[in-house]
Amino acid sequence: MKSYQGKTVYITGGSSGIGLAAAKQFAGAGANVVIISRDRKKLDAALPAIQAAKATDGQKFLTVQLDVGNHADVDAKMTATARSFGTPDVLVNCAGGVWCNYIEQTPYEAYEQEMRTNFFGVRNMVTALMPFMKERGGNIVNVSSTLGFIGVFGYAAYAPSKFAIIGFSEVIRAELKQHNIKISILCPPDTDTPQLAEENLTKPPETRAISGNAGLLQPEQVAAAMIKGMEHNRFMIVPGFMNKVSWLAKRWVPGFLFSFMDSDAKKAQKKSQTPNPKP
Ligand SMILES: NC(=O)c1ccc[n+]([C@@H]2O[C@H](COP(=O)([O-])OP(=O)(O)OC[C@H]3O[C@@H](n4cnc5c(N)ncnc54)[C@H](OP(=O)(O)O)[C@@H]3O)[C@@H](O)[C@H]2O)c1
Repeated sequence: MKSYQGKTVYITGGSSGIGLAAAKQFAGAGANVVIISRDRKKLDAALPAIQAAKATDGQKFLTVQLDVGNHADVDAKMTATARSFGTPDVLVNCAGGVWCNYIEQTPYEAYEQEMRTNFFGVRNMVTALMPFMKERGGNIVNVSSTLGFIGVFGYAAYAPSKFAIIGFSEVIRAELKQHNIKISILCPPDTDTPQLAEENLTKPPETRAISGNAGLLQPEQVAAAMIKGMEHNRFMIVPGFMNKVSWLAKRWVPGFLFSFMDSDAKKAQKKSQTPNPKP
């Protein structure tokens, strides 16, 4: 990891999981770090852990309590933060939430909520900070998911919000290139975080069987892969061996990938004898 001394890094979702692991790694490399999320208690609990990882005494740290889905609040608070704390050299859009269940058990509100946080959250942060970042360039990493390139059983609300991040990132990659702002997309597989624990509470057996093939990463591994990929200006960052295999399979042999997943779902249905419920 290169030195980030004198650089400023903003991380949404920096109070937990992958975002928190990234915040600690950037702090360890000398960066000034801003973490952004909704729950004040989680922000206050995360801050000392990030400060403890710092490389020098001169580094600055800040927490901003914010719902990334609220565009007016994002505009106001990010403008004020960029003016008072400093323009980001790196923006990591990691805030996200998940809904995992059968489509019959996925209400309209879940789709709205997923799009609001996962997609509009990225859009709101990028548009609020872009005018500042255009002045000297930098990096933006948008956190999507394996579910951003494969639609898997059980993720009717989550997957579209993560697919949307990829479309948006392709557009801003082209538009912000002239301002020397480089875009990356991180697509983590299952990672051992509070989000995964929450998702496991409602995960259908079919989903469990399919995702069981992909292995489990630790948030520190995902954060390290993200930073390395970003430093190499990689557009798609796909951590984990099985995740990379899935990425290649979706690109080159999607029919094979779908039949593999369908067979896992079928086996799980037979085993649990609780097939996908009829409406
Ligand atoms: N864990 C996995 O298996 C996995 C796999 C693929 C992709 N991802 C993606 O990786 C990212 C990080 O997930 P994680 O697993 O590290 O989850 P996590 O530990 O639950 O952390 C999620 C973070 O996002 C914040 N957040 C959620 N909604 C927000 C909102 N509306 N506004 C501002 N902050 C918000 C949370 O804080 P507050 O609740 O306090 O707001 C928290 O800091 C997410 O985008 C997730 O979809 C995770």
